[in-house]
Amino acid sequence: MTKGLPETLEFSQRPRRGILTPHIRMLYVYSFLVVAGFLFYLSQGFWTTYSTARLPPHATVSLARCRSLHAKPGPSRDFHKRSYSDRFVEGTKPTLIKNARIWTGDANGTEVVNADILLDKGIIKGIGRVGHAHLKMLRDDLVVLDAKNAWITPGIVDLHSHIGDSPLPDLNGAQDDNSLLGPIQPWLRALDGLNTHDDSYLLSIAGGVTTALVLPGSANAIGGQGFTVKLRSTPERSPSSMLLEPPYQINSSFLEEAERPRWRQMKHACGENPNGVYGYTRMDTVWAFRQAYNKAREIKDGQDQYCNDVLDGDWAKLTKEPFPEDLQWEAMVDILRGRVKVQVHCYEAVDLDDFVRLSQEFQFPVAAFHHAHEAYLVPDVLKKAYEHPPAVAMFAAVARYKREAYRGSVFAPRVLAQHGLPVVMKSDSSAAFHSRDLLFEAQQAHFYGLPENLAIAAVTSTPAEVMGMGHRVGYIKEGWDADLVIWDSHPLALGATPIQVFIDGIPQLSSPHVVEKPKAFQVSPKVPNFDKEAKDTVNYEGLPPLEPEEAAHDAVVFTGVKSVYARTNDSVDEVFLAEDANSYGIVVVEKGIMKCFGSSSQCGMDLSESSATIVDLNGGALSPGLVTYGAPIGLEEINEEPSTRDGAVPDPLYQPVPKIVGGDGALIRASDGLQFGGRDSLLAYRAGVTAGIVAPIHDLFFAGLSTTFSTAARNKLSEGAVIQDVNALHVSVRHFGSPSVSTQIGTLRHLLLHPDDSHAGKWFKNVAEGEETLVVEADSADVIATLVSLKKEVEKQYRSKVKLTISGGIEAYLLAKDLAHADVGVIQVPARPFPAVWEQRRISPGPPLTEQSSILTLLEHNVTVGVGITENWAAQNTRFDVGWIAIEAGGRLSKGQALALASTNLEKLLGGKVKAQSAHDLVATRGGELLDFESKVVAVISPRRGVVDLM
Ligand SMILES: *[C@@H]1O[C@H](CO)[C@@H](O)[C@H](O)[C@H]1NC(C)=O
Ligand SMILES: *[C@@H]1O[C@H](CO)[C@@H](O)[C@H](O)[C@H]1NC(C)=O
Ligand SMILES: *[C@@H]1O[C@H](CO)[C@@H](O)[C@H](O)[C@H]1NC(C)=O
Ligand SMILES: *[C@@H]1O[C@H](CO)[C@@H](O)[C@H](O)[C@H]1NC(C)=O
Repeated sequence: MTKGLPETLEFSQRPRRGILTPHIRMLYVYSFLVVAGFLFYLSQGFWTTYSTARLPPHATVSLARCRSLHAKPGPSRDFHKRSYSDRFVEGTKPTLIKNARIWTGDANGTEVVNADILLDKGIIKGIGRVGHAHLKMLRDDLVVLDAKNAWITPGIVDLHSHIGDSPLPDLNGAQDDNSLLGPIQPWLRALDGLNTHDDSYLLSIAGGVTTALVLPGSANAIGGQGFTVKLRSTPERSPSSMLLEPPYQINSSFLEEAERPRWRQMKHACGENPNGVYGYTRMDTVWAFRQAYNKAREIKDGQDQYCNDVLDGDWAKLTKEPFPEDLQWEAMVDILRGRVKVQVHCYEAVDLDDFVRLSQEFQFPVAAFHHAHEAYLVPDVLKKAYEHPPAVAMFAAVARYKREAYRGSVFAPRVLAQHGLPVVMKSDSSAAFHSRDLLFEAQQAHFYGLPENLAIAAVTSTPAEVMGMGHRVGYIKEGWDADLVIWDSHPLALGATPIQVFIDGIPQLSSPHVVEKPKAFQVSPKVPNFDKEAKDTVNYEGLPPLEPEEAAHDAVVFTGVKSVYARTNDSVDEVFLAEDANSYGIVVVEKGIMKCFGSSSQCGMDLSESSATIVDLNGGALSPGLVTYGAPIGLEEINEEPSTRDGAVPDPLYQPVPKIVGGDGALIRASDGLQFGGRDSLLAYRAGVTAGIVAPIHDLFFAGLSTTFSTAARNKLSEGAVIQDVNALHVSVRHFGSPSVSTQIGTLRHLLLHPDDSHAGKWFKNVAEGEETLVVEADSADVIATLVSLKKEVEKQYRSKVKLTISGGIEAYLLAKDLAHADVGVIQVPARPFPAVWEQRRISPGPPLTEQSSILTLLEHNVTVGVGITENWAAQNTRFDVGWIAIEAGGRLSKGQALALASTNLEKLLGGKVKAQSAHDLVATRGGELLDFESKVVAVISPRRGVVDLM
């Protein structure tokens, strides 16, 4: 990013916009009015003069509508001369933010200005330097805030949200984002289901999100109209008052065109979602689109004809027939008139191609393709869309959850940007994803090669433009809405967190908790080079080979080593740290075993004579291989494709288990269902996650025995593929509805206190006697408390010490002291909690909302803590999940402790029995440490297999 414009403008010194004196200006205004009036008279013919007196009422309306038939949406011409915002809340004090480093959004996002910002009346009044003299002149209710050179960006803008329509926690009574009454429903409006009580509003604001486009779900080919909202609460407490520049049609059936129309939004969806709901094929869905657009075109043609005739003087037609209109289809007609931002959930090349042809057939522009996992493979198709290429609104790493997303790539944003296509990162905020961490999507896109200016623009100015709101949000410019975020670090640094968030000039965080960030986090991270990987990904149509290559020599020497983290018994410790670049060390590896680390003389190594493979880490590090847990990685390739999954185990609490399986006492082992070479496994491996621990896939109470496997192994019979055949016994206690939670607990008590002779019975007995680990999936603090009581009950009867681990554990921190006392460990899944369902509603979100995260609270009470994931794609992000926890702890957690959360702690909590330290993988990173954005995994040292893998 070029650090542009160091200029410091005095507010009073800014060039004036006009140079005309007032009375000359009035003269101009009068002459303009006279000329304009005359032209208007000529163009409108005699109807203007006759209409009011002689025409029936409908005719006046029809005439008005005909005259504005070709009006295009957008702000009024003098919009930026406004002196206050239409969203200004009376009583909001003006605020002066001094000494800010402002990313303005101008010059394609390359402009950064060091200046002060004045907010007043809901808008940005000025950007420049305010001296003492001017401060005095400003109003005496002025709030002055010293940003102390902190980064400020526009408020984050989310182009794809279901906030309010799919509110959290997810309760049946308020799921209003998908109508299932038909594939084509352009007449539905997301506004009509917009709930004001969504826990996501404040959480997302705490992530810097200020504006969101709320779209209907994707169950339908045309799901309905979307609406742009600002996330702050309003004095009126209504959905309507949250809207940003809503179209006039929210109040009247048809636009009466007193003003320029405003942008509307229409959700479309291609492919698997609408197909799945309606039993359609792609052919059916596209026909449904064409039929709907054809209907709209017929109405539009009728309107055009009518208006041609009446504006041409067809008096009879005007008095007899009203302007042809249809309330169900008017929004579709508006699409054909170029007044609607068409937002299309569309994944694959086939879908994108279909939709681009549709846009040409019916001549309407597409605002953006959303999700669009294959867009980066077909940029030329996108460029063929009618009028202009659509933007592409993506996730960074979320992929492969269904077939359509199988070729999704972390390199998509950079590839699309290289083709000049507008790149947007979006959240899909709902019970599955959360918009609080939308900025993290941009950070990842940046990590994988999207340039810094475009990465920030991808969550600010670009989505603002794509939703038609670029004239007021998405930038920090004079006259724009006063929506901005003061960050505790550079916005692309891992864990960047708001210090304060302003919406319409109103500070949103009442008492923000701020963590001191290291100096290095105040500049953009120097991300690694992924040019080759990106190129390969395109060449292989999204499925590049991911298997690592073994080093050619038995001896491998890593040079340029800045730090070494090693497992020492149950913890991870920094065992080597170079003071500076001159004292970088080496690590000598023989047949996959680390023999020495330190200076080359300490290791007795003459590199010039060595026949070893030399790997320069350039200030990098060695760290223990990470472990993934929580998602069914290793048991499924594509979540929504049963033919790629192990499938779910039978559950005796719900249905008798067939005798042939062993009856109700059967116990299933995950290791029997392992599949190797999966893309998420290999991607995880390439990101330093060298092992996975997985329990059998289960939908309900009963799971079975977990296993530990290598994420890199080719197949089960290859060396080191299964690291530990059986780990722990897993069950879930959740609010499934029926049987009750109390029945599930009762079952668990019965199994532990009265085990039978079955396979399961023996395992429950071993658990009761403290021999084996029991892992219970539970989130509710009430359920967890009951489990702690049950543990004591069992221990009393058996005089034992039961090894109990809580997995999920979103509310566990509320019992931190009791858990520590009862020696119960917690694996929090996911590491960044959000209240997806009721039993997770009491999250501890961490800064800026609470002083610390739930994980830190548990750790400070000496509870053993691990972290997990909920979906396979997330395994590759483990390094960032853990790095984020460390940076958010503000120095209260060492890097070793952070690494342990996804390695030693996790293994211990899941019944890991591989004790020999020398048996565990080490990961080599170039350019930085495993937990930061500046490093790339280049090798894995595998003592089990006796090799070093290079990538
Ligand atoms: C922004 O980028 C576009 C496309 O790359 C380029 O044409 C334009 O000149 C750039 N504008 C500025 C101000 O850098
Ligand atoms: C809708 O009607 C209300 C009440 O008259 C008014 O305050 C609001 O501005 C109208 N909104 C639009 C978009 O026309
Ligand atoms: C690790 O455990 C061994 C054996 O229990 C012990 O001798 C050694 O001191 C421990 N090392 C550390 C660093 O705690
Ligand atoms: C946690 O353990 C440390 C070290 O053993 C101890 O100093 C501290 O008091 C413990 N904290 C709590 C809350 O028990």
